[in-house]
Amino acid sequence: MGLFSRKTYQTLYPLPRFFAILSIITLVLLILFQVENLATQTKTIVGHNLEPTPWHLFPAKTFKNETKYARGSKILQCSYLSCASMSNNNGETIFTNESEQCPDYYGLIHHDLEPWAKTRISYASLMEAKKFASMRIVIVGGKLYVDYYYDCVQSRALFTIWGLLQLLKRYPGSIPDVDLMFDCMDRPSVLKRDHSAMPLPLFRYCTTCDHFDIPFPDWSFWGWVEVNLGPWQEEFKSIKQGSQNTSWKNKFPYAYWKGNPDVHSPVRKKLLFCNDTNKWGAQILRQNWAQEISDGFKNSKLSNQCNHRYKIYAEGYAWSVSLKYILSCGCVPLIINPKYEDFFSRGLSPKEHYLPISPENICPSIKTAVEWGNSHPSEAEAMGKAVQEYMEHLNMDRVYDYMYHLITEYAKLLDFKPVRPSTALQECVGSLLCYADETQRAFLERSTAFPSQTPACKLPPSNVEMTKKQIEAKDMIINKTQLIV
Ligand SMILES: *[C@@H]1O[C@H](CO)[C@@H](O)[C@H](O)[C@H]1NC(C)=O
Ligand SMILES: *[C@@H]1O[C@H](CO)[C@@H](O)[C@H](O)[C@H]1NC(C)=O
Ligand SMILES: *[C@@H]1O[C@H](CO)[C@@H](O)[C@H](O)[C@H]1NC(C)=O
Ligand SMILES: *[C@@H]1O[C@H](CO)[C@@H](O)[C@H](O)[C@H]1NC(C)=O
Ligand SMILES: *[C@@H]1O[C@H](CO)[C@@H](O)[C@H](O)[C@H]1NC(C)=O
Repeated sequence: MGLFSRKTYQTLYPLPRFFAILSIITLVLLILFQVENLATQTKTIVGHNLEPTPWHLFPAKTFKNETKYARGSKILQCSYLSCASMSNNNGETIFTNESEQCPDYYGLIHHDLEPWAKTRISYASLMEAKKFASMRIVIVGGKLYVDYYYDCVQSRALFTIWGLLQLLKRYPGSIPDVDLMFDCMDRPSVLKRDHSAMPLPLFRYCTTCDHFDIPFPDWSFWGWVEVNLGPWQEEFKSIKQGSQNTSWKNKFPYAYWKGNPDVHSPVRKKLLFCNDTNKWGAQILRQNWAQEISDGFKNSKLSNQCNHRYKIYAEGYAWSVSLKYILSCGCVPLIINPKYEDFFSRGLSPKEHYLPISPENICPSIKTAVEWGNSHPSEAEAMGKAVQEYMEHLNMDRVYDYMYHLITEYAKLLDFKPVRPSTALQECVGSLLCYADETQRAFLERSTAFPSQTPACKLPPSNVEMTKKQIEAKDMIINKTQLIV
């Protein structure tokens, strides 16, 4: 409230005292009224005045321990005053280095946006997509505005918007004006068969071949504070180091999975039956997050979980954030053929980067894979190395490049000019750090980005036919491999 205490008496001196006092009282009442108003009306990145998404319920956030007045002044400070003083860092980027080629699978950006390639994206379809969105993100002139519709579980909104702000910092002046709808919950929602007449553009963290939803890097690349996962660049480094601790020969010769089986995931339920190292070659452990949190996450360090030759991936309620850590271990990933895919897993090749496991036949399929690996140690070790390298190439520079290209290609398709919605508030690094609690702030700051010296990697050109063929070829390998077991 310091900002409002600057009114000085000197300037009021000529006025009759009575009026001066009256106007000050009025002003104070007005401010209090406004603060009260803000406290009850402003929707914020941490969930004030927002309901959980109706399509994926979770316990509403509580802001206990905050008086109405404290909440009001916090909202005033964070949402209305934090970004005002920010300088417009919209200078041109000066690149000193040549860019490299993006990974091939970045070409899938064209595939994801194909539904709008001819019709383009109308304002009407965006407003239709709003029905499935938790927020609307608008970038105009390098500034980011967000309209919040529903709250996101945990701190997903905070870390997702943070990632976008870092992208703006990394490529100042290069991110086009854009207007997009985003849902932060797990499952894709725009079914192709229901929306073929008017495909709706909706960004989220995963998709399937039956959905129009556009996949975008999930929050955990910047950190998942609730389960103590740091930013991706730190986690990868420590997992890789941990993985080199034990030689292939000395790694346990069976498959390992540790996670939460209680997430409405049929494959995880079935996986519990494979918990027998002698019979199925698998060890299945339950991750008890409540226990881990109270133990200070001593037993859930990912870098200590690369001591097995095989690691199982089983998707959860939808895609699982755990995939990238499993793939980084230098072990042979045994991937139970997933329904959901995130942006980067689509580039994985079966039998080169992992062994596909049949969801219909999980335990025998794991057993076959483990037996193959134990009788082909050098091939198995090479597969582990290959997939670890794949993940090493997916460093944060590449993650930002994916966001850059997706947003740029998407923006080209808009058939209207993005403008700041009257209801949207600006978000900036300052406003996010203002709302973040101490732990969140420490996590966010660890993933601060800086202007890049290199332009974004070169996006492969659109080749819709070839992409279709590649997807089919991959399906065929998966089908064949699964038939063997
Ligand atoms: C919130 O509650 C905690 C523990 O009850 C207390 O230590 C802290 O001072 C409180 N904070 C505020 C702003 O009241
Ligand atoms: C830019 O190029 C120089 C010289 O080739 C290299 O040493 C440096 O690491 C590069 N910087 C980046 C950010 O890629
Ligand atoms: C690596 O091995 C050493 C010695 O066995 C152990 O002290 C250390 O904790 C291990 N580190 C990881 C990350 O597993
Ligand atoms: C799997 O078996 C091991 C050893 O028998 C046991 O400690 C563990 O709790 C089992 N896992 C589950 C999920 O029941
Ligand atoms: C793979 O198997 C699935 C299910 O059995 C089937 O729908 C699909 O057409 C198959 N794909 C190829 C390329 O054979």
